[in-house]
Amino acid sequence: MVQLQLPAIGEQHRVVNVASVPQRSPFRYPGGKTWFVPLVRQWLAQKQRPAKEFLEPFAGGGIVGLTVAFEAWASKVVLAELDDQVAAVWKAILGDSAEWLANKITSFDVSFESVRSVLDTEYADPKEKAFQTLLKNRVNHGGILAPGSGVIKSGENGKGIKSRWYPATLRKRILDIAAIKDRIDFIEGDGVPLLRQKATQEDAIFFIDPPYTAGGKKAGKRLYRYNDLNHEELFNVVETLRGDFLMTYDNTLEAQRLAQDHRFDIEVIPMKNTHNVQMTELLIGRDLQWARGAQ
Ligand SMILES: C[S@@+](CC[C@H](N)C(=O)[O-])C[C@H]1O[C@@H](n2cnc3c(N)ncnc32)[C@H](O)[C@@H]1O
Repeated sequence: MVQLQLPAIGEQHRVVNVASVPQRSPFRYPGGKTWFVPLVRQWLAQKQRPAKEFLEPFAGGGIVGLTVAFEAWASKVVLAELDDQVAAVWKAILGDSAEWLANKITSFDVSFESVRSVLDTEYADPKEKAFQTLLKNRVNHGGILAPGSGVIKSGENGKGIKSRWYPATLRKRILDIAAIKDRIDFIEGDGVPLLRQKATQEDAIFFIDPPYTAGGKKAGKRLYRYNDLNHEELFNVVETLRGDFLMTYDNTLEAQRLAQDHRFDIEVIPMKNTHNVQMTELLIGRDLQWARGAQ
């Protein structure tokens, strides 16, 4: 049996300073890929022409797709997400409710009681559900929306529940996204069939950032309501894509094995997690030569 060893970090990769990347997502997303934005730019910059479609089938907070749309790296960005709470936000912003949502955020008076009342309500109105999701994302520990997560108590600088509630910033991000909504499509649903459907499209580009549960990893299970993914099946589908793709995974032996079984290229990238601890992630693609140049 061949013994797999975790590859060393490419020497040329420095940890990205996330403060240097424009924050465009309305979410603070667990497993968010802000740190990955400079690499995506590097990847897209070496292409002959802008992509026709850029697909992000596990969108979450969608920072990569948003960056591609804002910076016009592709004519169209398609985001897909299975979690109905997250989907409600994208549908509200990219539909007709961005202004309503922005106003609701700036007029909301945050207190334990007002937050509790919103979080405990079952909303039928999709835009109310979008507001509820954004509020929950701001007041829950780590922005976690999955069942079992709880509300911040002490928060930043003793500001408690308000410590991550930045209404003016959120308002601006929502309205900025709405202003370019003709460049972004959102699909509520499973990203894997979407990949299958787009597999023959040569001028499509894919950024694939699934929940990290390969090899029984726990992180993805705690962070996301939808975390039950057949990773082998995902890799099989990715292998059929005609267009170029990048995948990101936790740097585990299981993810490496999947990549090697499918004859994909891998590169280890250093990043800092939300607790500012340096970690590594695995970048997977067909040919990552471009990522080994100066960063
Ligand atoms: C690692 S997170 C993506 C984070 C995102 N790249 C960002 O920067 O915010 C994975 C996301 O995939 C979603 N998800 C899980 N299974 C899915 C599926 N089958 N189809 C689409 N989305 C799925 C989860 O709800 C979660 O939001």
